[in-house]
Amino acid sequence: MEITLKINGVEKKLNVEPRTLLVHAIRDAGLTGTHIGCDSSSCGVCTVVLDGKTAVKSCTMFAVMAEGHEITTIEGMAQGGKLHPLQQAFYDQHGLQCGYCTPGMIMSAHVLLQHNPNPTEEEIRFGLSGNLCRCTGYQNIVKAVQQAAQMLQQPAGAAADD
Ligand code: FES
Ligand code: FES
Repeated sequence: MEITLKINGVEKKLNVEPRTLLVHAIRDAGLTGTHIGCDSSSCGVCTVVLDGKTAVKSCTMFAVMAEGHEITTIEGMAQGGKLHPLQQAFYDQHGLQCGYCTPGMIMSAHVLLQHNPNPTEEEIRFGLSGNLCRCTGYQNIVKAVQQAAQMLQQPAGAAADD
């Protein structure tokens, strides 16, 4: 069946089976930054954002269910050739090693910071508890989210002067 998914502001027509998972449809659309780890909702590497405000593990929903929703993936985070503050902070704080978990971590953190712009360390750890990292021990990931929270709270002019 043919469906249309709006991913990062771009409409993509895809041929899928009714049972096709959203993560597979996104990757088949050429956006391979969304990873597949467990395919069973445990690891969080497939996390995307629906309608700008809800983090969803894209292996937990069928592609057909995403029609009519705005989907944001890691490829939609950088704007105008400039990394999103979360991407910059993961880089600055060494929040990634192999990077396999990083897109999902960033999408979950993105939603967390929208709902709670100044989270405590405990709130960050809780907010990311559905995302597993096998490399970093999480400390630098937490630091990255703390840095991004600070960057996002700076006035726009101050951020541009960095
Ligand atoms: S692949 Fe979706 S949670 Fe692991
Ligand atoms: S950086 Fe390797 S799994 Fe997290």
